[in-house]
Amino acid sequence: MKAALEALESGALDEIAGIDDLKILEESRVKYLGRNGQVTGILRGLATVSAEERPAMGQAANRVKQAIADALDAKKDTLEAAAFEKQTTAEAVDLSLPGRRPRPGHAHLIPQVADEIVDIFRELGFQVATGPDIETEYYNFDALNTPADHPARDSHDTFFVKPGVVLRTHTSPVQMRVMEKVQPPVAVVVPGRVYRVDYDASHSPMFYQFEGLLVDEGVSFADLKGTLMHFLERYFGPGHKVRFRPHFFPFTEPSAEVDISCTMCKGAGCRVCKHSGWLEVLGCGMVHPEVFKHANYDYEKYSGFAFGMGVDRLAMLRHAISSIGHLYENDLRFLEQF
Ligand code: PHE
Repeated sequence: MKAALEALESGALDEIAGIDDLKILEESRVKYLGRNGQVTGILRGLATVSAEERPAMGQAANRVKQAIADALDAKKDTLEAAAFEKQTTAEAVDLSLPGRRPRPGHAHLIPQVADEIVDIFRELGFQVATGPDIETEYYNFDALNTPADHPARDSHDTFFVKPGVVLRTHTSPVQMRVMEKVQPPVAVVVPGRVYRVDYDASHSPMFYQFEGLLVDEGVSFADLKGTLMHFLERYFGPGHKVRFRPHFFPFTEPSAEVDISCTMCKGAGCRVCKHSGWLEVLGCGMVHPEVFKHANYDYEKYSGFAFGMGVDRLAMLRHAISSIGHLYENDLRFLEQF
């Protein structure tokens, strides 16, 4: 039995020394020390050994068992340390690598253009005013001399929120909201969203307008003209012809639409200007006395001008954008160009 124990010990220790895999090491633990393992078998066999021999044999068997267990543990520590070393090397973070830069965003073309227009008017002394997108019919229409039966209401295809409440069809209601609060002199510009039931290449149900209002003593159409000419030259650059065409708006009298010579063909005629040589860019006029009445302004003493333009349209004209839809589809390939 002693010889068998010695053979088992040296065989086991040799085997363990040669193992380089944790799974195989575990198999070898089961093989020697498991419930049906070889060492366990020898310890069970002690029952058949004579009483005198049993203590010495028992001691020897336990020593072998301990030696194998120690070898298994030591090997396990070595293999685990090696595996850890391998893993940390493989997953090591190279702290000297440059980081990944977050891609910074930028303002959308529409607010870019709106800010630019605001800056041009701020230099002239205008202040920025705002009003609600959800507006009462009173501010959107009635106060602007556009009563319920007025045909001009039809041309604004209005979204109704509930009776008497609409999504504003233009930024003009902010004129009245400002005049209710402050006395002349007034000089404000109003960038903002407006809504109309309209949808094609040049119309979006939501778009941006830019309103202007100036009221003081002795304001004339010449002031309106000079202000807008200055603006158009600043925005489109020098060298464009500008024309004022008589027009009608219920809240201005007289009223005009303003065209500039086509930014694409310089007036020669092309697809963009529909071969007219001209592009319509805004509506304007002298504030109607009825509007001043609603504001409780003395219309004998004060006069003023107002104008409104489409920010989308101004952006599209300058960048030769063919469809307003591009501005709202959030296609980065388009948006990143600006
Ligand atoms: N509110 C008008 C429109 O949306 C534009 C306008 C504003 C005209 C101010 C005259 C004065 O068509």
